[in-house]
Amino acid sequence: MLIRPATPTDLDAALRVIGDAFGIVVQPPTVHTTVAEDPDGHFLVAERDGAILGTGASVGFGRNGWLGGIAVRPEARGERLGQRLTEAAIDVLGPRDSVLLLASEAGRPIYERLGFEVEERYVVLWSPPDTPAPVPNGLRRLTAADRDAVLELDEWVTGESRTLAVDVALEGALATEDLSAVALKPPWPALPILARDPAAGEALLRALIAPGLRLAVPESNTAAVETLRSLGCTDGPDVVRMRRGAPVAWRPEGLWGVFSLFFG
Ligand SMILES: CC(C)(COP(=O)(O)OP(=O)(O)OC[C@H]1O[C@@H](n2cnc3c(N)ncnc32)[C@H](O)[C@@H]1OP(=O)(O)O)[C@@H](O)C(=O)NCCC(=O)NCCS
Repeated sequence: MLIRPATPTDLDAALRVIGDAFGIVVQPPTVHTTVAEDPDGHFLVAERDGAILGTGASVGFGRNGWLGGIAVRPEARGERLGQRLTEAAIDVLGPRDSVLLLASEAGRPIYERLGFEVEERYVVLWSPPDTPAPVPNGLRRLTAADRDAVLELDEWVTGESRTLAVDVALEGALATEDLSAVALKPPWPALPILARDPAAGEALLRALIAPGLRLAVPESNTAAVETLRSLGCTDGPDVVRMRRGAPVAWRPEGLWGVFSLFFG
C-alpha cells in the first residue's frame, strides 16, 4: 500500500472514498481540494494496484494543525490503514504545538491509540429541507477591507490563525453591522459562524440557515444547540473534538457553526 499526495487525476476517486465513508455527496471544490491547493495543506491517498483505497488530509494554521478526511474503503478496513493515513497526515504537518481533529465513533479508537484526548463534543445536525428563504435584515456583506477584523474575531474564537480558511470564505460573507458576529461563505456547502456576542450569533444563524446543510456546534454552546433544534434541525452522528499537544485558548461559546468536520 502506497501513501502519497493526491494528484489532480486522483481527486474524483479520493472524493468518492470520502463521500461513501461519511454518507455524503462531495463535489469539488471541497474543504479537501481547497486545503490541497494551500502550501500548508496536504491531501493524501492510499493506493494499491492503481486503486484509491483511503484518504487523509491535514492543514496547518500556524502553531496548530488539523486532521481531516480520514477514510478507508470498506474492503480495505481492519488493516490499520486508517492509522497509517492518520500518522502520515500528522507527519507532513511537521512540528506543531498541537494537532486537532473532529472524530467519528469509528475513528476515535485510532486517535486514542495515537495519544489524542477528547476535549469537547460537537453536536452535528442537518438543517431541515423546508427552511424558509432567509431575510438578512440588519446584515451587511463583508469586503476585503474587513479582512483584518474578521481574522481578529476568528482568532478570538478559535485561538488559531486560520488565514487560509478566512481567505477562501470572505467573498459573500455576511456580518452584523457592528461585526460582533460573522457568517463566512466557503466555496463548499457550510455555514461557519463566529460570534463575540451570543445574540448576534443566534441572529446570523436564524437568518442564514439554508436547506441541506450539515451543521456542527460545540455541545457546550448550549444556546447554539437549542437554536438549531428550534429551527427543526435533525441530529446526525456527533463527533468529538480531540487534541494532541498543548491546549488552544479557544472559546466554544463563540463558535456557532463550523467550516466542516475537517476543522471546526
Ligand atoms: C475509521 C476508519 C478510517 C478506520 O479505518 P481502518 O483502516 O479499518 O482502521 P483500523 O484497521 O485501525 O481498524 C479500526 C477498527 O475497525 C475494526 N475493523 C476490523 N476489520 C474491519 C472491517 N472489515 N470493517 C470495519 N471495521 C473493521 C477493527 O476491529 C478496528 O478496531 P480495533 O482498533 O479495536 O482493532 C474507517 O472505518 C472509515 O473510513 N470509516 C468511515 C469514515 C470515518 O468515520 N472516518 C473517521 C473520521 S474521524
